[in-house]
Amino acid sequence: DRPLRVALLGCGVVGTEVARGLLENSAELSARAGAPLELVGIAVRDASREREGIPSGLLTEDAEALVAEADVVVELMGGIEPARTLILRALERGASVVTANKQLLAEQGPVLFEAADAARADLSFEAAVAGAIPIVRPVRESLAGDQVQRVLGIVNGTTNYVLDEMTSQGLDLEDVVKRAQELGYAEADPTADVDGYDAAAKAAILASLAFHTRVSIHQVAREGIRAITRDDVDWARRTGYVLKLLAIAERTSEGVAARVHPALVPTDHPLAAVRGAFNAVFVEAESAGPLMFYGQGAGGRPTSSAVLGDLVSAARDRLVGGKGPRESAYASLPVLSADAA
Ligand code: HSE
Repeated sequence: DRPLRVALLGCGVVGTEVARGLLENSAELSARAGAPLELVGIAVRDASREREGIPSGLLTEDAEALVAEADVVVELMGGIEPARTLILRALERGASVVTANKQLLAEQGPVLFEAADAARADLSFEAAVAGAIPIVRPVRESLAGDQVQRVLGIVNGTTNYVLDEMTSQGLDLEDVVKRAQELGYAEADPTADVDGYDAAAKAAILASLAFHTRVSIHQVAREGIRAITRDDVDWARRTGYVLKLLAIAERTSEGVAARVHPALVPTDHPLAAVRGAFNAVFVEAESAGPLMFYGQGAGGRPTSSAVLGDLVSAARDRLVGGKGPRESAYASLPVLSADAA
């Protein structure tokens, strides 16, 4: 079989683990995919910097050239540009794209979905929401025959870790955020975590998939955890609650509403038991009833599991000449503005 040429864009916390996983388990992943998966290069900003376990010959600063020769492009750079242009270029060429870029999906999802559908190319993004937890595929595919009413959960590992450490160790927010960065949970700019932008992006993605409409991050009402003090978490604990940053998206009589805010969760509620950088998502659907998804929501290794799963899946689709779900044909369920949510 002709090898499928895989290009990796970005070699940060998640990219490094994806590259290692692909190199170390190449034979196994190729067997599952149905064709040899060949990592042809990794685009980085500085190719002269050594990365442990990554052959330096794979590193390149020319992302465009890499995209031009790939069958599958795995985008793990994050941010809007150059990720957006590179993904669009890959899709236009008919390459499959796997991305973990929640910010880009939440701001420009429709543009990407339309490009993917026009090219009949796969665009998959399991790793963009809740790290290792399979949640995108269940909402996008398994529940496609049901009516989702509500999605609710803890979708940011950093803030959950921070609130947890503030509660159990009596630490201040700033100190714990630093630790979350060292552990590879936080975004490059942890403001995205602390102020709820990361959770809002994930809420927008989940709401779009769950309600078959287009929800942008700007339509998600957002309040982060920056203002929360040790006194707040102490008071919550003494009164039988824990503070959690929740993302909530629901179908109302007027339309779809999505929001992110800190909430007091009773200590005997399942969400109160979600510790550290773990995430949990509840989905309520008309026929399925309540569903619960739980697992590691951040960190390089757990997130690489979701990326590699998408990669194997995209490779399988290519071999049968098919593609994953089409999202550009969304119905137009109205979405409420952030002010109204
Ligand atoms: N910074 C994110 C989090 C990483 O803490 O959840 C996973 O998307």
